[in-house]
Formats: sequence, structure tokens, C-alpha cells
Amino acid sequence: MVSWATVFQFVLFLSYFSLHCSSENFIFNGFKQASNLLSLDGATKITMDGLLQLTNDKQNIIGHAFFSSPIPMIKTNKNMSVVISFSTSFILDIIKVGSVGGHGLTFAIVRSKQLPGASSGQYLGLLGPNNNGNFSNHVFAVEFDTVKASRLFNETNGNHVGVDLNNMKSNISQKAAYYTNQTSKVEFELESGQPIQAWIDYNGTNKILDITVAPLSIPKPSRALISYPVDLIHIFEEDMHVGFTSSTGKRASSHYIIAWSFSTEGPAQAIDLSHLPKFPHVPSTITASRSKVIKIGILSSIGTLALIALLIGVFLYLRQRAKWVETIEDWEREHPHRLRYKDLYRATKGFKETELLGSGGFGHVYKGVFPKTKEIVAIKKISNNARQGMSEFVAEISSLGRMRHRNLVELRGWCKRNQDLLLVYEFMPNGSLDAIIFDSNNKTRIILNWEQRLNILKGVGSGLLYLHEEWEQQVVHRDVKSSNVLLGSDLNPKLGDFGLARFNEHGTNPNTTHVAGTLGYMAPELSYTGKATTSSDVFAFGVLLLEVVSGRRPIENNAPTDEINLLEWARDCQVKGHLMKVIDACIAKECDIREIEMVLKVGLVCCQSITEVRPSMRQVIQFLNGTEQLPDDLKLVYLNPDAANFASQKSSHSYATVSMGSLHEGR
Ligand SMILES: *[C@@H]1O[C@H](CO)[C@@H](O)[C@H](O)[C@H]1NC(C)=O
Ligand SMILES: *[C@@H]1O[C@H](CO)[C@@H](O)[C@H](O)[C@H]1NC(C)=O
Ligand SMILES: *[C@@H]1O[C@H](CO)[C@@H](O)[C@H](O)[C@H]1NC(C)=O
Ligand SMILES: *[C@@H]1O[C@H](CO)[C@@H](O)[C@H](O)[C@H]1NC(C)=O
Ligand SMILES: *[C@@H]1O[C@H](CO)[C@@H](O)[C@H](O)[C@H]1NC(C)=O
Ligand SMILES: *[C@@H]1O[C@H](CO)[C@@H](O)[C@H](O)[C@H]1NC(C)=O
Repeated sequence: MVSWATVFQFVLFLSYFSLHCSSENFIFNGFKQASNLLSLDGATKITMDGLLQLTNDKQNIIGHAFFSSPIPMIKTNKNMSVVISFSTSFILDIIKVGSVGGHGLTFAIVRSKQLPGASSGQYLGLLGPNNNGNFSNHVFAVEFDTVKASRLFNETNGNHVGVDLNNMKSNISQKAAYYTNQTSKVEFELESGQPIQAWIDYNGTNKILDITVAPLSIPKPSRALISYPVDLIHIFEEDMHVGFTSSTGKRASSHYIIAWSFSTEGPAQAIDLSHLPKFPHVPSTITASRSKVIKIGILSSIGTLALIALLIGVFLYLRQRAKWVETIEDWEREHPHRLRYKDLYRATKGFKETELLGSGGFGHVYKGVFPKTKEIVAIKKISNNARQGMSEFVAEISSLGRMRHRNLVELRGWCKRNQDLLLVYEFMPNGSLDAIIFDSNNKTRIILNWEQRLNILKGVGSGLLYLHEEWEQQVVHRDVKSSNVLLGSDLNPKLGDFGLARFNEHGTNPNTTHVAGTLGYMAPELSYTGKATTSSDVFAFGVLLLEVVSGRRPIENNAPTDEINLLEWARDCQVKGHLMKVIDACIAKECDIREIEMVLKVGLVCCQSITEVRPSMRQVIQFLNGTEQLPDDLKLVYLNPDAANFASQKSSHSYATVSMGSLHEGR
């Protein structure tokens, strides 16, 4: 039983066939329903959008599309065989790959739609090297060639329309163009990516082949691009196949036919431009060549940028490495606590100014935080212009690094970098003692009471004693002063910079003796011996005692003339019997004035001019702790301030002696 739907479909099919596909007349406004009516081979297919895609953009491929049924092309007229007039119109679209596409397509009328021997590339899928030019081919074609094959086919340009008779070497060809009037024509690109309409009309009576091409937007020009008188009778046989061939070579394009109309014995139906399928996609809506150029441009600029970035990266890396690179001399390896410059660099954010804690005679001190451990340290950067002595000094420093005493700033490590030496110390949150005692501008400073001051002095003394007597070797500090006394969070004092003065001495010309130390703290003998001793440390410690008790700097430039030098002023006051004047007003009211006086006396005892009469640090500690009393009859030996030359005075023994008893009398 046949359903009504099937019958209806059959009727529809018949009506379609009769309307659109008589044996001599058909039209495809798009190819969606054309698959039964066309013979496709090679790469050719009908796309989802209804486009006849002869080739895609792969290289070296061929595509054929022929109307399935043969078309009679020869008729007998007045006892003579003549070629039947034919007319065709179609819309083609060539989407190239890259800046130049290839190779082109043909409208072909051929004896055999199999086209044996057809080749890709310049042969446009129509003929091949084995049959090109053979009269037995029975091939007529209009080529739309986008590649110039000058050697093979004597072509003069890569954008032409030509007539091929059994031979890819065109009998006539013209650059793609259209006439706007009878004389002037406009050239255009076949592979521009825009749809192009072509009209091919052959008049069997006057045997003239007219070929016209124009962009789709242009109505059919009145003058054909090619008007070629040719009798196709030797080409055609009675039944021929009409259709398209196309190929790609090394250059490739997607070749599309969007619509096709064909007719014999009369003009082809006009293609309905309002009912065309969607045109093929042109990449980026710009021409493929431009897109390729842009693509190459983008890629190359990305590449260039990447290369530049890489080079910058390498440069920065090398520069960073150069910042960190360490030339480690053999002797350096032997000493413990050597730290990596890289780590110190990172800890101080590249020795940034914001991390600067202070600058002293030896160099800058930076606060450093090791990123991993969060350990806070103070990093002292000492510049040494002379290389000599560095290794000895580092040896000394690194051995000092083994010292551990609660009143000595702990040396955590060291690092040599070119001419710089970096010493890493524990960080002391309350800064240095001098800042606390003297910085009267700082309203937030801690005002130390007597107990705290005495505790600090005892602590510093204890540290100095350790250096002088208790460690495995005797160490002379060489620069005892309030700015080298650092305070921990509990105001526990620690003596810093021990041994550093040696560095300055090493750093200078060895032929001249440079005395390290700080003005106001320097024992008189240093100026002629140039040799620091434990005794000169004691002298400096004595000055420190006076400082802390009086709250004055060793040399106070703003003070009245007789009070400028703290030591001389204190001696003077002591001689005159009013040593109490020296005591800092901040602590003067405090109860244990006797203890304060005792410390002042110890200070004066330490600051005696002759090394032999100064007490040792052990004695000093005993005095401060009260475990040993200063003898009442102790005489102070000091340099006569009126004398110009200490050395000459020493030889003539012209010292003044002051009885300590007067101190007690002064109370
Ligand atoms: C034309 O056809 C007639 C018969 O149909 C034939 O006798 C005659 O020879 C033909 N003439 C030519 C030139 O072929
Ligand atoms: C032309 O083709 C025929 C048949 O295909 C062949 O026999 C002949 O050799 C060919 N001639 C040339 C010049 O290629
Ligand atoms: C090549 O074409 C030019 C004109 O386009 C013509 O003059 C010349 O004779 C041709 N050469 C050959 C070998 O066909
Ligand atoms: C077309 O060109 C081919 C090759 O140049 C030649 O052999 C042939 O005779 C030409 N045909 C016509 C009709 O001019
Ligand atoms: C043809 O058109 C061009 C401009 O497109 C014009 O200059 C020329 O005069 C025209 N020629 C004729 C014969 O109309
Ligand atoms: C062919 O040309 C002749 C004479 O030029 C003309 O009368 C005839 O209409 C043309 N035929 C077609 C189909 O255009």
C-alpha cells in the first residue's frame, strides 16, 4: 500500500524535475537539494550551507562536479552537424589560504566526467601532463586561473580568465576584469574572497564564445571580457558533460560555486541573487592575504616580544646573579658563619635606604629580615678600599663569631663581597645607649633611672671583662663608647662592634699608624703608641661611666668652655670638691647618691693618664658591684691639662695627683 505522503513526494519530485531540470535547462540557487543531480568526485562536496565546495584549502587536491546527465551539444542543421548554443551563469568564490592562493577552477564541457589523467596544480583538475594538448581529449573549458604558469602554459599573469581547448595553454586569455562601457574595463581579483559572477555564452550560429566576469555587486556588463570566435565542433561530441573542475597545488584555496544556471538553445536563467546560500566565510572578514600578513605580523611580534622578554629576563637574571655572585677565596671556606650575599641582599631588600638603621664610622647598618626564618638581624656593611688584611680580619671576626656572652652583641655571621665586609649581628630593638641618653629632642625616649643606668654599666663592664680576660684569647675592643652599647628589649645592654677598629687599621696604609677610636674616649697614650690595649679600653669605659652618670657627651660643644671636655670638667669639679655638679639632673634626686658618686669615682680612676695605674676590668667590675671598695687614699694620676705634650710630660713625670679623699670630703 502506497501512502499518500510518498505519492505526494513523488509528485513534488516530478514537478521539481520538470521545472528545474529539463535536459537542456537547469538552475541551482545553492546546492542543498542538488546532490542527486550532480556527480562529485575528489575533494568536492556540498557544504551544510548548500555551497558547492570544489576544493578545500588542502594542498594538491582535485575536485570535480558535473551535472549527472549528459547534455546533447551537437545538432544537425540543414544536413550539417553544428554545436548547439549554450549559455551558463554561475557565482564562484575563491577563499585563498595565505597571501597567495591557488590554483583555480574551470567551467568545463567534457566528453568524460571521470577526466582520466587530470592533475592538480596548474592543470586545474582538468587535464594532466600525459594528455595535455591531445585532440582526443574533447575538453572545452573556461579557466579562472589564480596562478601564473608562464613556462608551462605561456601565461602572463596570475589572475586571468582563459579559454582552454584540449590544452591548458589557453587559446585566449585575459586578466580578470569587467567592462564598464565599450572601452574601459576594471580589473579585479579572482581570489579576493568576494563572490564573482561569470557568464559564458556560446552562439552556435555565429560561433562566438562570450565570457564575462564581474564581482557579484556588478550587473552583467554589456561587453564581454572575452569574445572569441571558435568552432567547437571538433571539441564536442554529441553528448557532453557540463560542470566544474578545480585543484590546488603548493598554493591552495577553497574554491566554491554558490549558484549555477545552465541552458542550451537560449540564455541561462538569471540567478536569483536574493535567494543565495550563505557565502563562504572569509577569515576575519578581511582578505586572507591581509589576515595572513596580520597573522604573521602578530606571530612575529609575539615572537619578537617573547624574544625581547627572554633576553631581558636573561639579562636581569645575569645582573641579579652578578649582584649575588660570590668570589669565594679559599681562606673564606675555612671560617664558619659565612653567609650568602644573596640572602643578605634579600633580607635587606637590596640594601634599601628604608632599611637603614644607622651609619657609623665603619659603614652602614641595615635592618634585615630573613624571609624564611623571619629572623631579624642587623647587617653592618663595611667598605674596605684596601684588600690587604681582609683575610686576617675575617679570620679574627669569624673566630669572634664563636663568642657568646649575654653582654656582647652576637655575631651571627659574615660575608665578604668584593671590597665589602658584611657582618650580621643580632638585632637590638632598643637601639644604642647614646640615643637614649643624649637625644633630648626625642620626647618618646626612655628616661633611664639610676638603677637601669647602673645595670647597663655593669653589663657593659661584664662584656668587656669577658673580652679582656674570660674568652680563650684576649680581645681588645678598641672602640668602647655609648653608641656601641646596644639595648635589648629588656634594656639588657650588649657591647657591639668589638674588634672592628682593627678593620679600620688594616684598611689604611700599613706604613702609617692610624689610631682607631673615637674622640673623647681615646686614652692619651694612643696618640703616640698607636697601640690599643685592654688599658685603653678601660680608659674608654671610664669615659662611658662619666657619660651615663652625667648625661653628657664626652665632648659637649654647646657647653660652657670649661665643661666642653667631660673628663676634664669632671676632674676639675672633683679637684674643686663639687663633683656632684656632674651628675645628670634626671637622677640627681635619686636616693643612692653614694652609689652614684662611687661610679663617678670609678670613672675617674679608669681615666687616669697613665696606663699602669688604671684598674683592670675585673677590678672595675668589683668596684661597681661593691665587692671591692675604692681605697680612700687612692690618688688619681692625670695629665696636667696645661701641658702641650703628653709624651714629654711622661718622661719628666710631671703628673698631678689628686687625692680621692677630697671626693668624700665634698659630700
Ligand atoms: C543531405 O542529406 C541527404 C539525405 O537526407 C543526402 O542525400 C545528402 O547527401 C546530404 N548532403 C550532405 C552534404 O551530406
Ligand atoms: C592522445 O591520446 C590518445 C588516446 O588517449 C593516445 O593514443 C595518444 O598517444 C595521445 N597523443 C598524445 C600526443 O599525447
Ligand atoms: C605566449 O603568449 C604571447 C602573448 O600572450 C604570444 O605573443 C606568444 O607567441 C606566446 N608564446 C607561445 C610559445 O605560445
Ligand atoms: C588552441 O590552442 C592549442 C594550443 O595552443 C592549439 O593546438 C589549437 O589549435 C588552438 N585551437 C584553436 C581553435 O585555435
Ligand atoms: C567609459 O567609461 C569611462 C569611465 O568609466 C569614461 O572615461 C569613458 O569616456 C567611457 N567611454 C565611453 C565610450 O563611454
Ligand atoms: C546567435 O547569433 C545570431 C547572429 O548573430 C543571432 O541571430 C542569434 O539570436 C544568436 N543566438 C543566441 C542564442 O544568442
